[in-house]
Amino acid sequence: MKHYQKIIEDIYVEVKNTDDSGKVANYIPELGTISPDNFGINITTIDKQSYGIGDYEKKFSIQSISKILTLTLAYQLEREKLWERVDVEPSGNPFNSLLQLEADFGKPRNPFINAGAIVICDVLISHLKNPKEDFIDFCREISNNPNLNYDDKIAKSEKSTGFRNIALCNFIKSFGNIKNDVDVVLDFYFYTCSIAMSCKELSTIFLFLADDNFITHKNNKILTESQAKRINAILLTCGFYDESGEFAFRVGLPGKSGVGGGIVAIHPDEYCITVWSPKLNTNGNSYKGMLFLEKFTTKTASSIF
Ligand code: DON
Repeated sequence: MKHYQKIIEDIYVEVKNTDDSGKVANYIPELGTISPDNFGINITTIDKQSYGIGDYEKKFSIQSISKILTLTLAYQLEREKLWERVDVEPSGNPFNSLLQLEADFGKPRNPFINAGAIVICDVLISHLKNPKEDFIDFCREISNNPNLNYDDKIAKSEKSTGFRNIALCNFIKSFGNIKNDVDVVLDFYFYTCSIAMSCKELSTIFLFLADDNFITHKNNKILTESQAKRINAILLTCGFYDESGEFAFRVGLPGKSGVGGGIVAIHPDEYCITVWSPKLNTNGNSYKGMLFLEKFTTKTASSIF
């Protein structure tokens, strides 16, 4: 049994006092209003022990971390057919890049870059009667948390400045890989990114990727063991865009970041950990979040390698 509370407290103090060269994202204007000093950590083990420090109960915008949840529901609904629409290769490019789509005929490299997540949203719209309601209900069921919700202000803010995503969606549609109306797809995509959650809520919701025996309170299994393994594999290779190699190198866990400053990392069969610190490095990943996790997996000798 590891003394997680003491370990996270020690690293928290160390990292809190470290200079932070990052910048809070402001290309979504509403995100720019968040205090850069927020700093929270929560770890939840598969036997549901939870340890937190700092701002770990404060909700923030999960942004791209939601891409794990949209992928999970789409994978559940489409099974292996899903990979006809989106690939599973690292892009080695920024999260919002349009570059590779032309050469790849509109098939995004993976579901964790914006292009891929937009296609995943299109898949969900084709399946769900009321996409926004059905998707948030799915999130509430996995986490057994009826308090989860979209943040209207953030979604609208992104909608007003989301020019690259609008371009991506239209470009993919020109190749026939978006089946629904682009405005409907983008609206759904912006809302999924706007979900507000705390570190504690995030490290609880992703236990289904750490625990092979996970079932919801309604007795549903979310993914098969093989599907969970595959999502973890894509997280390891693609969860941090052009910095996925660096994250594997320094931290050594499957994980996902969001421009709200959150990072979730999963240790299969052990725990899920979330760090929130809004200042981002130049690749769009939380500067202190990565530093914290590097120290954490080193101190606990708990990377997957
Ligand atoms: O589409 C966007 O640009 C944002 N809603 C999400 C981007 C994001 O979180 C990338 N993460 N590091």
